[in-house]
Amino acid sequence: MNLDISRRELLAATGGASLSMLAGCSSSSSSTDSSTPTVASAPASAEPSPEAATSQSPTVPKNADQQRTLTATTGPISPNGTERSNPAWLYDGQTPGPELRVAEGDVLQVSLENQLPDPTTIHWHGIPLANPMDGVPNVTQAPVEPDGTFTYTFEAVPAGTYFYHSHIGLQLDRHLIGPLIVEEESPHVAFDRDIVVIFNDYLRGAPQPESEWAVQGGGGMGGGMGGGMGRNQMDGGMNMASRPDYAGLLANGRLPSNPSEFTIEKGEWLRVRFINASGATTFRVGLGGHRLNITHADGQPVEPVTTDSFAFGPGERYDAVVEANNPGAWAIEARSVDGDEQPATATLRYEGATGTPRKPSFDGNQLGYGDLHAVESIEGLQGSPDRTFDVTLSAGRGPGTWLINGQRFPDADPFAVKAGEHVRIRLNNRSPVAHPMHLHGHFFHVGDVLKDTVMVPGHMGRVTIDFLADNPGEWLFHCHNIYHLDGGMGRIIEYTG
Ligand code: C2O
Ligand code: CU
Repeated sequence: MNLDISRRELLAATGGASLSMLAGCSSSSSSTDSSTPTVASAPASAEPSPEAATSQSPTVPKNADQQRTLTATTGPISPNGTERSNPAWLYDGQTPGPELRVAEGDVLQVSLENQLPDPTTIHWHGIPLANPMDGVPNVTQAPVEPDGTFTYTFEAVPAGTYFYHSHIGLQLDRHLIGPLIVEEESPHVAFDRDIVVIFNDYLRGAPQPESEWAVQGGGGMGGGMGGGMGRNQMDGGMNMASRPDYAGLLANGRLPSNPSEFTIEKGEWLRVRFINASGATTFRVGLGGHRLNITHADGQPVEPVTTDSFAFGPGERYDAVVEANNPGAWAIEARSVDGDEQPATATLRYEGATGTPRKPSFDGNQLGYGDLHAVESIEGLQGSPDRTFDVTLSAGRGPGTWLINGQRFPDADPFAVKAGEHVRIRLNNRSPVAHPMHLHGHFFHVGDVLKDTVMVPGHMGRVTIDFLADNPGEWLFHCHNIYHLDGGMGRIIEYTG
């Protein structure tokens, strides 16, 4: 598939000199509405080249453009800036792990050195790489034993905002997360620079399976089935995730008492890459004093759309371009939709501005999936699907048991697909909580937008996704609430020829 491959091939096919020509067939390069970023150079309405349509599935590249080592170790963190925590599990001793940033099309090679007491792996969330590099234990690779190493090599395409994390058990909630940024050759929107804001949860001790805490009510936060009754339902049905007893919410590894601060200059256009890397938290995100021009969903370009806030579940990402037109000190806040911890917070401070950052009100408009329109669609998904799966998400017997079509992963039959098929999955959520469902190795269409993770609302929420089976292998499809995956809400999608 590869949207950006088709764009690149198109550029190559036209001699690479045709940016301006291509811009001519996209919309509004001279915007009169200064609150919307200019659509720069994307060939939004250009036809993909014939070569692009016959897509090549990813292979493991031989030579790397960029080499890194990530050492997984235990160590303290200091989310409030003073106290040091009990040992957390970290990449290179920090949380979030180091930002990996590469150019679109570069081959990135990362050696994982495991200095943890347990086996681990790294998954490159969202990147449609070759199957052996996907980091799923006992599916695409053997777990990397303590003192062991494993080298991941993949081509960084398409461009986008991604993250990496451990894919073993509940390790993600010990802080084994980090951002992975793949920069576009030719962004479809104008911006001056970008920053990354990654949200997650702060758990003081070691994560426990949901069965350990759901029965007691999840430490006060409505854990477990039915625990949420009576709490108000926010965000159009994204209601009542069951969550462990988190000690707080983090933005870039920091508690709201100790927010990271970004300096911003009046007049600039700042691209903010928001990543939800939490184990179980759906956030609603807003920025004081500014609207958010959403430009990318799960890293992939969308027609810019302006909103006051958006909600996203574990595994989702949004990029927003902020026009710096309102000097002062402003807070980026991410509230838990289900919990009542202090919102995760970061500060945007205009040069020279003093004082306490002012918070977003969250009473403006809220982004919905229906507002999002991909700049480029996946080829080959026109018409009716070659194969359809009806998938029911439900709670099993006993707390912390989660099922797909009545089966509890890993004791579950794979879904078989064949290369080249247009595959449809119709999701029906018969549980009372929302599930952020993530497909490895592929982007999918949900309505008019391309994503790799989609929220399926609780109480009979229904979502249909369509993808092109263009990346052979065994791919996990699962709930990105890691407690739900741990409790069985996963399935392998297996290519059978
Ligand atoms: Cu971030 Cu299996 O996923
Ligand atoms: Cu779930």
